[in-house]
Amino acid sequence: MSSSVRESNSNAAEEQRKRINPTKGKLRVLTSDYGPPQGACSSFKTLYSALEEFEKDLHQHIHLENNILFPRAIQMEAESPSALGSGEGFMKSKCLALLVTEHKTILRSVDVLQAMAKHAADSQRLNKEDVSGLLELVRLFADDLHQGKEEGALFPLFTAKCDPLEVDAIRHMIFEHEQDRSLMAGIEDALQRSNAADFAQYALRLAEILRDHIRKEDDILFGIIDQQLSVEDDAGIVTEFEAFDREFEKRGRDRVLHRLRMLEWKYLSKPA
Ligand SMILES: [Fe+2]
Ligand SMILES: [Fe+2]
Repeated sequence: MSSSVRESNSNAAEEQRKRINPTKGKLRVLTSDYGPPQGACSSFKTLYSALEEFEKDLHQHIHLENNILFPRAIQMEAESPSALGSGEGFMKSKCLALLVTEHKTILRSVDVLQAMAKHAADSQRLNKEDVSGLLELVRLFADDLHQGKEEGALFPLFTAKCDPLEVDAIRHMIFEHEQDRSLMAGIEDALQRSNAADFAQYALRLAEILRDHIRKEDDILFGIIDQQLSVEDDAGIVTEFEAFDREFEKRGRDRVLHRLRMLEWKYLSKPA
């Protein structure tokens, strides 16, 4: 994060406020502060209660970013300007450098996902083989392998030694992983129904969440974790990661990565 963490994060927070506040206001007006009308059926009440939950999640998300992650990043930048930055070169821990490298592959699949979504929205047609191929890649690589490493090895060790505020930040990152999984299920459902418009909507939302999540991990969270992992912690996590890598290899690593190159060639006009 070169042009100062403070500047970059205050711009991001301001942008977030501009986008979220009007939406929150509209939701409250439309739903009369989430109060269902008299005699409303149970699915109507469930919807209102889910919307209220959604607003609480948004508050939690904003609180975590503005009051925990960003101030911590600013403090770290002041104490040690080289501690934060994008890219594996900034991390002293090998386990974090490996995850940052995987983020680059996830972002390549996000580029393809966005191009597919645009194509589906414009043509109102779905190429089922391409969508299911990309979905398999996102599930096997981004979720089972990468998020599996974070949730199964890195986060448990870090939360056992960090302070309680940072535990909240980790919990929120896991919440965002769950959002990814819901959107993948939505994409699968749109695929089953051959619904191009729904696919485009879920795909664009998933792409947005993945980009934002990776930015937070690369630019802030991993810098915080990096400062607290010992050499022994790092070695133990890297060993745990190897079990995930072996499993990914068995389940079709070469096949899905080859398919990513083919889809990039087709949707982004990149050489395969
Ligand atoms: Fe993550
Ligand atoms: Fe990640």
